Amino acid sequence: MKALHRITGIVVSIFIVAHLFNHLTAWFGIETHQYILEKLRQVYRIPVLEFILVISFFFQAFSGFRMCYHIWKKEQKTKVEKIQMYSGILLGLFIIQHIPATIGQRWYYEFDTNFYFASRVVLEQPLYFYFVPYYFIGIMAFAFHLAEIHRKKIVQYISQEQANIHYYLILGIFFIIALLILYIFMGGKYDIQIPEAYRVY
Ligand code: HEM
Ligand code: HEM
Repeated sequence: MKALHRITGIVVSIFIVAHLFNHLTAWFGIETHQYILEKLRQVYRIPVLEFILVISFFFQAFSGFRMCYHIWKKEQKTKVEKIQMYSGILLGLFIIQHIPATIGQRWYYEFDTNFYFASRVVLEQPLYFYFVPYYFIGIMAFAFHLAEIHRKKIVQYISQEQANIHYYLILGIFFIIALLILYIFMGGKYDIQIPEAYRVY
């Protein structure tokens, strides 16, 4: 289970990094974001690849929750196990909401799930009270999960102090990424006019 979780973890991590990079490109304008989005979709929207991606995400959450259950039952939990477990639970909750929401709304409302789709929920009241922490927690849960795995592996080759620096560096980078994405999508960089077609709830 753990070995499979590691393998699908690589697949989904490649997607997440590309996905967050895509959101960051909105810094240069909505058109740039759309251009990169369409380039990326040429890969992950190929039906068989999208199917593999979505299945991998759900397997990640399923296998992750099972591993959490085993750790939860242990009387003595290490600090590493606790960080993996808590970051995993938050990440799992994000995944099982975010993926059905994006794909479900694309199918149901038949609109393009682009910049405006994501921006609207962090721009308008009362939606942003939920969606700002939701996206922030999603990104940071992934960051904690990744940083802890990296620290655990790298400490075999370098000192504990150096490994800790790597850990905080990874967290710091993702913290800045999360803030930047939210800043742009919340209209901090330029004015955003949400098209009426996106006001479906
Ligand atoms: C983006 C999604 C995820 C990625 C990329 C990912 C990746 C990984 C990797 C590479 C490991 C290390 C395995 C090893 O030590 O060899 C790991 C461990 C772990 N993951 Fe995830 N994971 C993800 C999502 C989740 C979710 C959603 C959960 C829980 C619901 C979870 C729970 C865990 C737990 C508990 C461990 C520690 C297992 C142990 O040491 O016994 N993961 N994860
Ligand atoms: C601020 C952060 C994020 C925003 C604004 C965001 C927004 C979006 C949007 C707009 C889509 C639709 C893409 C499309 O139509 O092609 C999408 C899809 C998706 N997102 Fe995110 N996302 C964020 C973070 C994440 C994170 C952290 C993960 C993973 C843990 C993730 C996983 C996915 C997946 C798997 C899809 C479905 C891809 C598909 O169409 O098959 N997202 N997201």
